[in-house]
Amino acid sequence: MPAAAPKLANVFFEDQHPAAGDSRAELVAGLRRPQKQIKPKYLYDARGSELFEQITLQQEYYPTRTEMAILNQHAAEIAVCCGDDCVLIEPGSGSSEKVRLILDNVRPVSYVPLDISVEFLYESAVKLGREFPWLNIHAICADFSDSWQARTNLSSGRRVIFYPGSTIGNMDPQDAQTFLSGLRHWIGDDSGVLIGVDLQKSEQILHAAYNDAKGVTAEFNLNIFNSINKYTGANFNPENFYHQAFYNQTLKRIEMHLVSKKNHTVDIEGSVIAFDKGESLHTENSYKYSMESFTSLCNAAGFVVTKSWLDEEELFSVYYLTVGE
Ligand code: SAH
Ligand code: AVI
Repeated sequence: MPAAAPKLANVFFEDQHPAAGDSRAELVAGLRRPQKQIKPKYLYDARGSELFEQITLQQEYYPTRTEMAILNQHAAEIAVCCGDDCVLIEPGSGSSEKVRLILDNVRPVSYVPLDISVEFLYESAVKLGREFPWLNIHAICADFSDSWQARTNLSSGRRVIFYPGSTIGNMDPQDAQTFLSGLRHWIGDDSGVLIGVDLQKSEQILHAAYNDAKGVTAEFNLNIFNSINKYTGANFNPENFYHQAFYNQTLKRIEMHLVSKKNHTVDIEGSVIAFDKGESLHTENSYKYSMESFTSLCNAAGFVVTKSWLDEEELFSVYYLTVGE
């Protein structure tokens, strides 16, 4: 639990210390690849989480407000899908803003926000606990792509995964399928997944969403260096890089990179990494799906789409998945 954290009767906090493991070795291996890369989870230290919240408020970043409108409009129908007394689990819960839209309808026996960003998770859980005193909250700080389930005891009840925000789009499709398939086996046959997915659309809209005029996305991307320096003792200087985000039409994904402004080296506790001027470091993919391609991915992972909802402009999609035959 973060230092000087307030206690609340309806909030239980469990820290699995996800960043403490082999992050340095993992990081150096990624930086030694021909296309240098860092996993997007490193974008989310406390500052990164705040910057992401600011991104969601930018005019150009349509996904958050669009998905919130869908959840708001269809909350009653969503509650019918979720059924009575479920344990509602949100991997990558961030500010837990979206769950507020469905809580009064769904009325889960407990809500399990799970996030890698420890302070932000704790503050968000406490804030939610104050606003919803009837709600039991079991917040877990963990890496959702790690086997966090084995380390925790959730309250009993039918499990419903709430995975909004198109966070699944930050995984390669093969990893997304493996992730969903892992969930399918863990949640049990009578459970479900409520998931939000960003849709393919004009390159212009996508480009603007990841290159906002105020430069918040650029700051979010560059902040990965502060996060990494803190976790590993590296000496990245954010001023030596600039933000780049573009739509890869072939792979149907936005790619975020950080491009080196000059030839220079970075030291990660004795491992020296050289950057050429113009060389890029790949920090994130954000895959965009059609309804058909996402449905196929779900089917391959052992789920069927029971219900789906869209906004009028068909910018964003939300699905309720149940376990297939
Ligand atoms: N669900 C929220 C937040 C989405 S932002 C919404 O829809 O608005 C993505 C969230 O996932 C961030 O809060 C980030 O900290 C978290 N996250 C990213 N990678 C993670 C990982 N590997 N394990 C756990 N949380 C992760
Ligand atoms: C959390 N995730 C779905 C966001 C996205 O759109 O891929 C993260 C983000 N990256 C840049 N802007 C927002």
